[in-house]
Amino acid sequence: WPTLPVPSNWTMHGYDRPHYTNVQMPFDLAPPNVPDDNPTGLYRRTFELPAGWDSRRVVLNVGGAESVLYVWLNGQAVGMGKDSRLPHEFDLTPFLKAGENLLCCAVVKWSDATFIEDQDQWWMGGIHREVFLYATTKTYIADVFALATPDEGFQDGALSVTTKLGFSGPPINGWSVQTQLFDLEGRALLDEPLLDRVRADNRRHNPYRGPLSQVTQTARVAAPLLWSSEAPNLYTVVVSLISSEGDVVESTSCRVGFRRIEMGDRALLINGKAVMIRGVNRHEHDPVTGKVISRESMIVDIKLMKQFNINAVRASHYPNAEAWYDLCDEYGLYVIDETNLESHAFLHTMCRDPRYLSQFVERGSRMVERDKNHACIIAWSLGNESGYGPNHDAMAGVIRALDPSRPLHYEGATWVWNEVYTPIPKGLLEDPISRSGMRASDMICPMYPPIDSLVAWAQADDPGDRRPMILCEYSHAMGNSNGSLSDYWAAFEAHPGLQGGFMWEWCDHGLTQHTADGRAYFAYGGDFGDTPNDLNFCCDGIVGADRVPHPGLWELKTLVQPVGVRWIEAATGQIEVLNKRDFADLSDLSGTWALEVDGEVAAHGELPSLTTLPGAVSVVRLPLPRPIVFEGQEAFLMVRFALAGDAGYAPAGHEVAWSQLPVSLPTKPKARAKPVSVMPLTLKRNGERAVVTGRDFELSFSADSGMEQMTRGNHLVIILGPQLQIWRGATDNDGIKGMPRQAEKALTKWLEAGLDQMTVGRGRLETSQEDGQVTVHLRQVGSCGAAEHAVIFDHTYVISGDGRVQVDCTFYVDSVLSDLPRLGVTLTLADEFEGLEWFGRGPLESYSDRKHAAWVGKFAGTVSDQYVPYAMPQEHGNKTDLRWIELRSPDLAVRFSPSALCEGSASRFAPQDLFAAKHTTDLAPRKEVRVNLDVAQRGLGTASCGPDILEQYRVGAGTYRLAFDIDVLGA
Ligand code: GAL
Ligand code: MG
Repeated sequence: WPTLPVPSNWTMHGYDRPHYTNVQMPFDLAPPNVPDDNPTGLYRRTFELPAGWDSRRVVLNVGGAESVLYVWLNGQAVGMGKDSRLPHEFDLTPFLKAGENLLCCAVVKWSDATFIEDQDQWWMGGIHREVFLYATTKTYIADVFALATPDEGFQDGALSVTTKLGFSGPPINGWSVQTQLFDLEGRALLDEPLLDRVRADNRRHNPYRGPLSQVTQTARVAAPLLWSSEAPNLYTVVVSLISSEGDVVESTSCRVGFRRIEMGDRALLINGKAVMIRGVNRHEHDPVTGKVISRESMIVDIKLMKQFNINAVRASHYPNAEAWYDLCDEYGLYVIDETNLESHAFLHTMCRDPRYLSQFVERGSRMVERDKNHACIIAWSLGNESGYGPNHDAMAGVIRALDPSRPLHYEGATWVWNEVYTPIPKGLLEDPISRSGMRASDMICPMYPPIDSLVAWAQADDPGDRRPMILCEYSHAMGNSNGSLSDYWAAFEAHPGLQGGFMWEWCDHGLTQHTADGRAYFAYGGDFGDTPNDLNFCCDGIVGADRVPHPGLWELKTLVQPVGVRWIEAATGQIEVLNKRDFADLSDLSGTWALEVDGEVAAHGELPSLTTLPGAVSVVRLPLPRPIVFEGQEAFLMVRFALAGDAGYAPAGHEVAWSQLPVSLPTKPKARAKPVSVMPLTLKRNGERAVVTGRDFELSFSADSGMEQMTRGNHLVIILGPQLQIWRGATDNDGIKGMPRQAEKALTKWLEAGLDQMTVGRGRLETSQEDGQVTVHLRQVGSCGAAEHAVIFDHTYVISGDGRVQVDCTFYVDSVLSDLPRLGVTLTLADEFEGLEWFGRGPLESYSDRKHAAWVGKFAGTVSDQYVPYAMPQEHGNKTDLRWIELRSPDLAVRFSPSALCEGSASRFAPQDLFAAKHTTDLAPRKEVRVNLDVAQRGLGTASCGPDILEQYRVGAGTYRLAFDIDVLGA
């Protein structure tokens, strides 16, 4: 009997092992069969009852056990329960004895229920939530269901509290229930507490007069503060049980929020507003404890979500630990609570298997019973990826009747499964209700739909189906991802009926492990010898398993921010500020503005305090200097909004929103002044090599690689000049590199075309000298399996006496190559060039289809800092809209200035390093700096699960030009 902490997953304590699968089951058996080898944990501990408990009813609550729980007390069988994500309660009273009691639990990993707990996550094991005993009187408050509903006009509110009594013996009359409502300051709001007798015994009453042993009490509440994610105002209901002698024998409380959820015309209405769902899906995951989630870590998650302007969370895919809902009530997050039911591997089977009917009904109804008092819950979800069948309709019927105050969500019902799989003559299915799954879902909630299909749905405006569309999952955040998030948001905001959604997913499910030499990394499927597995498909969070935000989260924050800013007229300094909130004005925010000309702040100031109402705009006139820009300058107005005072989720000063507005269009490429160089320059040819020497620099060229080495004084600056580059360390969206090649994925096509093996042939070096400048030209041909002339690469170098090199590249991409990873050049710089500055979008990495969180400015950092530790190493660190990028050593700076905006990055990893690595700890930074300058890089898209990049973010066949200057300056 070794000791194991409770709560814990035994799989995180050296027993059995974590096992990750997505759709497939971890074993190859048909329901309800499970392997004979079935990990089972036996727990035992003793306890003594506290003084005064011996005449009371004592209940054991086990918050969650994966997966089947059996309980014995003092050698007697007490009961069992299934559902890994809900509590099980056992009345221990008849089994207790004075002195020491021995409690034993057995937790069995695999059961018939495993087939309906097939969510995409680690299979763990053990008692992973809190266990506690509580005591009540023998007659006790069995349940309280409190509803706090604003009236039609949102002026006053109605409180309705239904209290059910439980009896350890036969039900008896004589009990009363007393109820009072308190505000947060503890002030009683009802002049008199509600006091009602409970009819428990029906022998002397007409049995037709309503349910026994329960009472519903109602009261009007004048002008309550409403609850919303923006203003999570809570009240407390206290319910007391009064004996026939008038003694209060027991009291309980719960918090309520006055708010109303209704289905409107193509809208889910929260307090009458079609609130845009800025949501995320959240699994319960901790990189060290697995499924054991502390309250502190929940607060970390909630604060992060709120700080990133997220207003909703789907409890994917099971009821969470109870504290989560308390915190969502308190901090203000809209929650879709989800039944613990997924049968992905047997999608169409379990939902029509009568042996599982009661499990469907029980899982859904037990969730509702546990969580119904939470203001934060705006809908009940019937589960995830379990097809759609009669078992769902049964569950839906029960939930609707238990809690008519909330709508239902179920993605599976909005498919056409029932038409395909139900053995009913076609004609009967003309009934629109059964066709469209309206019995089981009040919203259309697809996962990963392409944007054009959303728009088509919204425009069709079906008069027969007025449900809104709220995506249950979209923008799969696996690795470097969330391409086109802005295109989704543009669609949501433009088309009535589209009401946002929940991006997939909040955090990576990496588990912290260490290499032999003690370096930490995040493990994923297969790292524990767990087979079969789905590799790193569980690392698809918008934050890492350690909760470090991925760049995609900043993108989301920017797109869903509550304040929008637009020019009315730049010349007069007038801007329009839009309040995108639903309920609150903007008076909690303070605004600042800055005019940046060519990357430097030219003027700045504060905005007046704004009381802009929700949905309204305010016009502000800024005292901008005149003229704002001069010929040839580039200017932006940056407007930022921060919390003026502390909020529950962030301190004063926390930035909530920003907008960068261009004042002028990007400048035309400046005509290159002819250098009036009188500095000496010599050109030496030696067969297929050439050397250009100036007063303090030297440049060498070859027919194999064009420009090779550049030295300045006695410093080596460039080790290798611009080399044709079309490859990148594939992102998970390009294709999951550890999996067998997936058809249709970009990576598969690239590998088939041999893009990773492209060879660039030797050309003919042409040199000339004229007007104090040397010109070197080389044409090279890049060949790969798919095309002998895949890319023709023309590069010309004009070298001046002052050391400036003007590079002009033309790329002719063969028509067979329609979708390249990137197109540009890579230069290799000496190790010392670790310092980095750039003028372009930053400070975070940006890509053509994910650049809204990056603004245009001058940024400084180091090359090593550009690394983004995606759990699976892959392309990262890109910068878009570059005006220039500069690398710095302690002695020198080398600046690359493109003639037109380009993309680029600086890194110590080559694409092949990233591609070869399986974990972050496999990566070893090179002792050299690689500078990538790209005409364009492929966007990111979300093809690991969902649509690939849109056409406009592709780099395909055609002729492209990339021209840039290289200047070496003293540091
Ligand atoms: C969905 C599913 C999620 C997760 C996601 C991919 O199909 O509902 O649980 O598997 O895809 O990461
Ligand atoms: Mg699934």
